[in-house]
Amino acid sequence: MITHLGISNVGPASGMELDFGSRLNLLTGDNGLGKSFLLDTIWWAMTRTWPAEVNPRLTAGRIALPTDKKQPAAIRASFSAASKETRCESAFRPLLQTWVTRQGRPANPGLIFYAMADGSFAVWDPARNYWQSRREDGKARPPAYVFSPAEVWNGLENAEGTWLCNGLLRDWAGWQKENGQAFASLKAVLEALSPSGEEKLLPGKLTRISLDDARDMPTLRMPYGQDVPVLHASSGMRRVVALAYFLVWCWEEHLQARELQGEEPESRAIFLVDEVEAHLHPKWQRTVIPALMKVMDTLRPDKEMQLIVATHSPLIMASVETSFDAALDAWFDLDLSDGAVMLARRPFLRQGNVCNWLTSEAFDLPSGYSREVEAVLEEAGRALSEESFSPEDAKRLHRRLREVLSETDPFWLRWRFVAEKKGWLS
Ligand SMILES: Nc1ncnc2c1ncn2[C@@H]1O[C@H](COP(=O)(O)OP(=O)(O)O)[C@@H](O)[C@H]1O
Ligand SMILES: [Mg+2]
Repeated sequence: MITHLGISNVGPASGMELDFGSRLNLLTGDNGLGKSFLLDTIWWAMTRTWPAEVNPRLTAGRIALPTDKKQPAAIRASFSAASKETRCESAFRPLLQTWVTRQGRPANPGLIFYAMADGSFAVWDPARNYWQSRREDGKARPPAYVFSPAEVWNGLENAEGTWLCNGLLRDWAGWQKENGQAFASLKAVLEALSPSGEEKLLPGKLTRISLDDARDMPTLRMPYGQDVPVLHASSGMRRVVALAYFLVWCWEEHLQARELQGEEPESRAIFLVDEVEAHLHPKWQRTVIPALMKVMDTLRPDKEMQLIVATHSPLIMASVETSFDAALDAWFDLDLSDGAVMLARRPFLRQGNVCNWLTSEAFDLPSGYSREVEAVLEEAGRALSEESFSPEDAKRLHRRLREVLSETDPFWLRWRFVAEKKGWLS
């Protein structure tokens, strides 16, 4: 579990300090203020790798570069490893263009998962990537497993042409035919991540989708009775299906590695998810965080699981209103203030509904209306409060309100009351 991240002279702000909650951590802020950057930096601090350096096919997750090239830049993190708190610090070496840490083997922070916004995934598994760069036979171990979106589906090869991972399509089909533990886990995780009890993500029969593709294609059983090949499923379903597969693959491989090593599986995991609502319908956005919090329990109960998610969605914020616990969870918000990016850990106050979240500090919108309606309502609000508002302007405003405002909008009550009193409607 990561407890603290501190960065200076790198990223959009001059410095940032974050004290994390042990369970759920939410990151909000406008586009470009550094949410993904922070997730990349947490990944670095926990794994000593940058996703795009492990896999150059990635377009995101690049090495962080200092803002002022002539000044020292640092990334500091504290995390709990086994029973003790560990600190690590890295500094940027401009001549090497790399981040360096103190020599020696850092403590093991547990399994680290990273689901990036574009559908790329990364995992750092202490059983397979734990700072043992050389094996007995002299071959290098992968520093982490990093998948571009296509590789999650089709498999991940290393430079020597051997398969590090078969990919979703082959593994799912293989697991389904074998009908053992891996398929049971996949079904359980798909069910946990389903949008609702009525709309379950259920595997259907394997099928073929092309004369030129010899692979048996997994399918999803749709509520309308068809088995739809996973490659034909919606973007939202593909995002969740890829996530489910990735988690099961990581966990199964970890179990096997630990068994080979004669050691117990990890009991700690950190899960980084960027734009957690990506491609999901509002109904699904309301259930995805509680589902993610449950999913590790599905794979292995009693695990210590920390979730760090970036979001642009008021539905995500509203969805955790009843479960947010200030002792376990944290919300960080990035804002632009006087031309500088500022990070604040905000008290999580209940907003009551999604619309109120839009106008909260998380999203800073003036209202939930369209900008056009917002402008008309602002003028109408002035008309109601200003004694000197001219009847001609009020009549014009009334026509405008009728053009743009919903007939059932509660504003009509106030407007009609005043307008009738002042004779604007005659
Ligand atoms: N590799 C990097 N090195 C240094 N700064 C970066 C790097 N990547 C992103 N940034 C900073 O983060 C900003 C982009 O933030 P990003 O995390 O993509 O925003 P969002 O909040 O929309 O996820 C950039 O404008 C830049 O200031
Ligand atoms: Mg981003």
